[in-house]
Amino acid sequence: MNKNIVVIEGDGIGPEVTRQAIKVLNAIGEQFNHEFAYRYCLMGAIAIDKTGNPLPDETVESALNSDGILFGAIGHPKYDNDPTAKVRPEQGLLKLRKSLQLFANIRPITTYPSLHHLSPLKTKSIEDVDFIIYRELTGGIYFGKKETSADGTTASDACIYSKEEIERIAHLAFRQAQRRRRKVTLVDKANVLETSRLWRKVVKEISSKYTDVALDFLFVDNAAMQIILNPKQFDVILTENMFGDIISDEASVISGSLGLLPSASIGTGSALFEPIHGSYPQAAGKDVANPLGSILSVAMMLDHFGLEKEALLVRTAVNWTLQHGFVTKDIDPVNFYFTSTIGELISEFVSNKIPVDVNRENIELRKSTII
Ligand code: IPM
Ligand code: MN
Repeated sequence: MNKNIVVIEGDGIGPEVTRQAIKVLNAIGEQFNHEFAYRYCLMGAIAIDKTGNPLPDETVESALNSDGILFGAIGHPKYDNDPTAKVRPEQGLLKLRKSLQLFANIRPITTYPSLHHLSPLKTKSIEDVDFIIYRELTGGIYFGKKETSADGTTASDACIYSKEEIERIAHLAFRQAQRRRRKVTLVDKANVLETSRLWRKVVKEISSKYTDVALDFLFVDNAAMQIILNPKQFDVILTENMFGDIISDEASVISGSLGLLPSASIGTGSALFEPIHGSYPQAAGKDVANPLGSILSVAMMLDHFGLEKEALLVRTAVNWTLQHGFVTKDIDPVNFYFTSTIGELISEFVSNKIPVDVNRENIELRKSTII
């Protein structure tokens, strides 16, 4: 199989984690005879620095013509505390989502037994937690009309949804539930918001086509609480853009490290894959960030290409590193390995270069020396 992949490394730790993901993808290519060609493009603070534009036209053009996009992270502290900044890195990502019509953002929340102790929740409540969030990504309050009054004292952001926007993501969520434990939970605020009432009506209508899937509803404030109290109850969570943004960050900490979680944004054309963590500027260039979110995003990309065996091998390799304690600083602040070492280990596992009775000593040598 030949695939043209656009790589957007972005800001902060984006480049170093993405590099590990590419190592792994190359190892998969070699192992299974696939050809992955890469085109590097700019977006975010680095694009503003180099071109004045957070999303140069060339990036959109290349992304539209690609088979998939691998994205690192976006954001720089110099923009975060400046509400007057006219140009911001995030505008690049929002515009890319809109230009590619990436209407569904998919975030799986998985837990790993070897990391249970890192979760802020008790082990008993996180064992076997496995759910997936379908967040609408190109509508709602993110993209409604934004206004500030002439005197600068009043501002508004409109939240708008159409039936079609709700239907297309709802179908994806129900189909996913059919492949899982057959339950969809719609998270909304239908006791207050008109848009949420439309979501309920449309999703209820659609559910009649999926009689094998159970549908239930939760107000977003209650959902935020339930995710902490009893995360096991969820299978597929379906929700609008802003609620999805908030609850997916909340859910991400259940597994023990934000650095582990991948995501896929899919739509009408090429899909985009990215770790859900941000640009983590304090760690940039230090080779300490966790590359697993990016590597697992590659597994989601492979699944999207229909390469299920390949995706499974990447996930097996990731599990192998976690089980053997080959982990980055976020997971073990004392005995940690470098970002690049984890990337290498996973690619070597994929290439079958790690013997079953691995000589731990050899790998130990590549451990961090700055602890
Ligand atoms: C995310 C991020 C983005 C969002 C930001 C960077 C615009 O938080 O992908 O969840 O709010 O959608
Ligand atoms: Mn977010």
